[in-house]
Amino acid sequence: MSARAFTPAEVSDLRAAFPYFAAHDLSGDGPAYLDAAATSQRPAAVLDAERRFLETANAAVHRGTSGAVGEATGAFEGARAAVAAFVGAATPEQIVWAENATDALNIVALGIGEANAGLGVAGSERFALGAGDEILVTEAEHHANLIPWQRLAAKTGATFTYIPVREDGTWTLDDARAALTPRTKIFAFAHVSNVTGYVAPVAELVELARAVGAVTVLDACQSVPHIPVDFGALGVDFAAFSGHKMLGPNGIGVLYGRPELLAALPPARTGGSAITRVTMESAEFMPPPLRFEPGTQPVSQVVGLGAAVDFITRADLARAAVREHELVERLVAGITETPGLRLLGPADTSQRIALTAVSVAGVHAHDVGQFLDEQGVLVRVGHHCAQPLHRALGITSSTRASVHLTTTEDEVDRFLDALRGAQRYFGAEVSA
Ligand code: ALA
Repeated sequence: MSARAFTPAEVSDLRAAFPYFAAHDLSGDGPAYLDAAATSQRPAAVLDAERRFLETANAAVHRGTSGAVGEATGAFEGARAAVAAFVGAATPEQIVWAENATDALNIVALGIGEANAGLGVAGSERFALGAGDEILVTEAEHHANLIPWQRLAAKTGATFTYIPVREDGTWTLDDARAALTPRTKIFAFAHVSNVTGYVAPVAELVELARAVGAVTVLDACQSVPHIPVDFGALGVDFAAFSGHKMLGPNGIGVLYGRPELLAALPPARTGGSAITRVTMESAEFMPPPLRFEPGTQPVSQVVGLGAAVDFITRADLARAAVREHELVERLVAGITETPGLRLLGPADTSQRIALTAVSVAGVHAHDVGQFLDEQGVLVRVGHHCAQPLHRALGITSSTRASVHLTTTEDEVDRFLDALRGAQRYFGAEVSA
């Protein structure tokens, strides 16, 4: 990485742009917010953009002929163009609005299910699945990128397979090479694990998948908010991420798709605005992206997401990534040098970003979470919607601290101190 990390003064300026941080005393006992991987805080610019839109320009987008509708539609489509540019889509039409990443992944899995149920559109035969075909995921997926594929396999008769994780929760290019076969039709995996922070070698994986003719589906929830991501350059077929983890509103997520694949994907949810011609017997559908956006859309959330992209771009994501990496290094060092703490995922920080999850020997994660909460340290505890991964690691739950472009060294240190405090409080075994 060649960009320069933010200075402490720049981080302080950034934090001042967030009403949440201004509302809490962060110099003393105020919260150390280390839960951005679950949901991030929003800058005033995002909250203001949503409010301003609702106060001055709210109208039913893509419906009607009034100037007000035109203005609202312009804001809605402008945000789509901003998001497209942000993630390396060649055209805004490659960006489909969804409720969140879970919904975006379901649009793909359910759409392929429709194609296989005889409800396809022109070109849908490329998604044909049946006995003898395979859907491949990894054991590290969170449930949103796991269950939709399990169900698609069950519906179509395809075989559901997965790449098992290694002892540290990672999996490698060689593991993928061994698991991909000429029968693999779909390969779905996370860019960055929400438990181990492990960064998958996406471009190389896409190349392997393409060589066997598999469609790639990337869960980019934990990468897009933290590092510059260019889906076009990575070559993925589909990708999904959520607005609320990247300083944007809840209720808005994104499905990215290669144009020819989106064009061949049938809509699983249907209704008004997504159609060209409807009779009492049948319906024909719009081209993407509107085909996948039936019904009234979350317009102010879309506008807010556009403002979030603008905020992150102005802040400079490449510099934020360097800064966040320093914080992850600090977390990993603190965890690995503390007896009784087990770091989940690679100790080699060049393989990870954004977060660290830890298992505290002899103390349940919920007890750790309660203790940390009393210290004002806000983290996520539990299985983080990744039960199979925790099972593979021989645990049921963990405690996760995640960073963002506003996180400070002090917040990281408070987390590490609180973990050690929890060990003492609960009389945990700390033999080195
Ligand atoms: N949103 C879930 C998380 O916190 C999966 O990682």
